[in-house]
Amino acid sequence: MRKKLLLGNWKMNKLAAEAKEFALASKELAKKAKEHNILLGVAPTYLSLQAVKENASKDMIVAAQNVHFMDHGAYTGEVSIPMLEELGIDWVIIGHSERRTYDNETNEKCNLKIKALLGHNMVPVYCVGETLEQFEKGLTKKVVGEQIKEGLKDLSKDEAKRIVVAYEPVWSIGTGKNASTEIAQDVCKFIRDVLKDMFNEVSEEILILYGGSVKPENIKAYLSCNDVDGALVGGASLKIESYEGLLNNIL
Ligand code: PGA
Repeated sequence: MRKKLLLGNWKMNKLAAEAKEFALASKELAKKAKEHNILLGVAPTYLSLQAVKENASKDMIVAAQNVHFMDHGAYTGEVSIPMLEELGIDWVIIGHSERRTYDNETNEKCNLKIKALLGHNMVPVYCVGETLEQFEKGLTKKVVGEQIKEGLKDLSKDEAKRIVVAYEPVWSIGTGKNASTEIAQDVCKFIRDVLKDMFNEVSEEILILYGGSVKPENIKAYLSCNDVDGALVGGASLKIESYEGLLNNIL
């Protein structure tokens, strides 16, 4: 039986003091989530990771939004996995569509990052999803299938067990245009089928999230889909009241 996961992606929002305030206010929520066997987490900016890690419940997952695949070296502006480990961070979002669009994050680069993270016993949350143009041309499964095959290339079954996949149609991120629950289920099931081809029975253990304009009002419908195990939430994860609403509606 797969656990449910609610992960907030704060993107480039919140100063460290605001992140700390949220972390302190989230302690009760982390307790509630644990009682219901739900995994709960947030992904702050690099500069707020420490504040959140130090002030949130130890049961709260604190994820980074990106990482470099090399442990150290001449990569100006980058942050390495050992630097995250030093703060006790062991989850990282990889291949978010905003990074694919603005920072040239390719499937190949995601693959290097995912393999590096798994080598450090960390959990990559690998994001996939099609653009509006691709959706309208009926290319969703072709695009998502390639992202999965190339991004997760050469992983062992044991490694595959430790990854999380997030299906986020680009056209629904931050737009208020939700994918229907039928689309979410259909694509998440398709992802599980591709994972089955790659990793056999392990595919049943891998958590698959839906993301894109998830709100307290619609989260329950997504999580009631067979192959949707949780949600990756941007805008609606920023305010503690809304984050609490998301959790309460999947208990
Ligand atoms: P959104 O973002 O919930 O604001 O649509 C989701 C995401 O980008 O992860």
